[in-house]
Amino acid sequence: MRGADSVPRPTPTGKTPSFPHARRKTWLRTDIESCMLQRRCKLRGRMKKEQVLNCQFSFWYPRFKNQTIRSIVLPLPQNVKDYLLDDGTLVVSGSEDLPTCSQEDDDGNSDEAEDVQWSDDENTTTLMAPEFPEFALKVQEAISALGGSVFPKLNWSAPRDAYWIAMNSSLKCQCISDIFLLFKSSDFITRDFTQPFIHCKDDSPDPSLQYVLVLRKWCELIPGAEFRCFVKENKLIGISQRDYTQYYEHISKQKEEICRCIQEFFKKHIQYKFFDEDFVVDVYRDSMGRVWIIDFNPFGEVTDSLLFTWEEMISGNNLKDEQSEGAAMEQDCPSFRCTNSSLTVQPSPYLSYRLPKDFVDLSTGEDVHKLIDLLKLKRNQQDDEES
Ligand SMILES: Nc1ncnc2c1ncn2[C@@H]1O[C@H](COP(=O)(O)OP(=O)(O)O)[C@@H](O)[C@H]1O
Ligand SMILES: [Mg+2]
Repeated sequence: MRGADSVPRPTPTGKTPSFPHARRKTWLRTDIESCMLQRRCKLRGRMKKEQVLNCQFSFWYPRFKNQTIRSIVLPLPQNVKDYLLDDGTLVVSGSEDLPTCSQEDDDGNSDEAEDVQWSDDENTTTLMAPEFPEFALKVQEAISALGGSVFPKLNWSAPRDAYWIAMNSSLKCQCISDIFLLFKSSDFITRDFTQPFIHCKDDSPDPSLQYVLVLRKWCELIPGAEFRCFVKENKLIGISQRDYTQYYEHISKQKEEICRCIQEFFKKHIQYKFFDEDFVVDVYRDSMGRVWIIDFNPFGEVTDSLLFTWEEMISGNNLKDEQSEGAAMEQDCPSFRCTNSSLTVQPSPYLSYRLPKDFVDLSTGEDVHKLIDLLKLKRNQQDDEES
């Protein structure tokens, strides 16, 4: 949920991040964005901290275990949390081999931490990648128990904004270093750590949190089969195609059937069973027509309203007309929205999180010619300075 759901619009939203991290972007805010921000402020203030707490994966998973993807939740040790939040440590910890003979000191740090030598220059500081042998072992065991590949999350969010930095350009992880690389590169993860209650109205002190690493069995999910369901006062009022940037013919053609199927699933497995009466639940409809829960998110601005607006959701306006559109639709059927034509498709919402390709190629050493060009440029600069 969290920023992961609220931010990925094609244009930055005026939610200027105020992180203490050097890597965070600062966006120019236009007048239009300021207006949007003001409008959003009006919508804020409805959500309570408790609603956010209830959407933590570890809260809902035990209750809906049979309707969702198999997962394992591991408490996140404080030193791992510190490492993930530390902008100075760019070195990714966690070797692919299981730790075998590392000795831990009292803080759980290894004294045999594998160091990464970035330069032969004696004057350069060597960056050390911290190791967490005990935690790494637990993670590796969990990954194996889940079939060897996992989808990682923190209490609420997955590092979806950082997928491009992974070697496989995916969130599919096979070892702890895959997970650390994604988490350390993700603003969504940082937001879970630093601003979990950002849009909550209650002035009460923030509840204390137990941070966890969620490992979910990797599943090849088809984006066109994912839907976001908006539930208000325990009634399913809206369903939106989740990957709204693309046109999927099958969704347009099977609207009624999809809607009926999700509504049935909702009534049987979710209605009156969640901790709140207002919430947003993401579901997946597989090729057999079976519906699965993917995630729960707070009913509020922190969650992306996709093809609806939060004004519509909160006021209930504009939803009724659509309901009566389809003759086959039942009385209590929710409003259903999908992208209706390929003309309206939009670029991926995650593009704005990517670095320029040249930069990535250089940093990963992918393109040796670019590296040579850069070194030549550097040498020319030095020659110029000396002459
Ligand atoms: N177990 C999984 N395996 C593969 N992909 C997944 C898995 N779980 C979720 N996804 C994909 O990742 C997306 C985001 O997952 P989600 O749990 O909702 O994270 P967030 O709350 O950060 O958006 C989903 O829409 C789905 O496409
Ligand atoms: Mg979510």
